[in-house]
Amino acid sequence: LRVRQPIIAIDGPAGAGKSTVTRRVAKALNLVYLDTGAMYRAIAWLVSKSGVSLEDQGAIAELVTHAKLDFSPPTEGAPLRISINGEDVSEAIRTPEVTALVSQISAQPAVRAKLVSYQQDLGKKGGLVAEGRDIGTNVFPDAELKIFLTASVQERAKRRWLDFQDQGDGMTLEQLEQDIQQRDYRDSHRSLAPLRQAVDAIEINTDGLTIEEVTDKIIYFYQKIISY
Ligand code: DC
Repeated sequence: LRVRQPIIAIDGPAGAGKSTVTRRVAKALNLVYLDTGAMYRAIAWLVSKSGVSLEDQGAIAELVTHAKLDFSPPTEGAPLRISINGEDVSEAIRTPEVTALVSQISAQPAVRAKLVSYQQDLGKKGGLVAEGRDIGTNVFPDAELKIFLTASVQERAKRRWLDFQDQGDGMTLEQLEQDIQQRDYRDSHRSLAPLRQAVDAIEINTDGLTIEEVTDKIIYFYQKIISY
């Protein structure tokens, strides 16, 4: 007897295609889409706006403890909305400034404690697909299906570069590769809940695969597991 609806955990490094794939999986399987990176970004945005120093862990802990997050998962076709202390930051959390700050913020114990318990609350009833770095290892270790999405640094930089082309950003491929390597290093070497593959996760390397192919693989695994 299931006490809650199933959960899919999708983890992996930046640029492996998690967001697009997770959104599609959620839509296809009628699951709620939980973008946990957006929550870390919202906290990073708040820290940067408040002018608190990154080294001042006490002040950051204070900010985080009192922060009120509102996360409304996207409904059919609509984009995800996230607000913090009443301010809608859905667009503001995607700027290069926030992106540059977020891995340092997400390494702080008070930040992780707050967000992990918030995510676990949202996941109590299950019926969701959550995307992040520590979902299968830490947030939902009992998830029915765990996927670890990877891709080579070159492939991920190329994807980011193509995204930025659309937005008219002038970053070179080399800069993006460096950025990604740095972020990978920080995310996987922090002492707290580092990025790593859960022992029971299925790894999918997305190099050379289309979004549809990756999505279909995950749906296939899900249906296999759920039919037991
Ligand atoms: O997936 P993203 O780029 O939006 O994530 C932003 C940052 O947040 C990323 O540097 C790693 C961090 N993060 C985390 O530490 N744990 C998560 N579950 C999700 C994101």
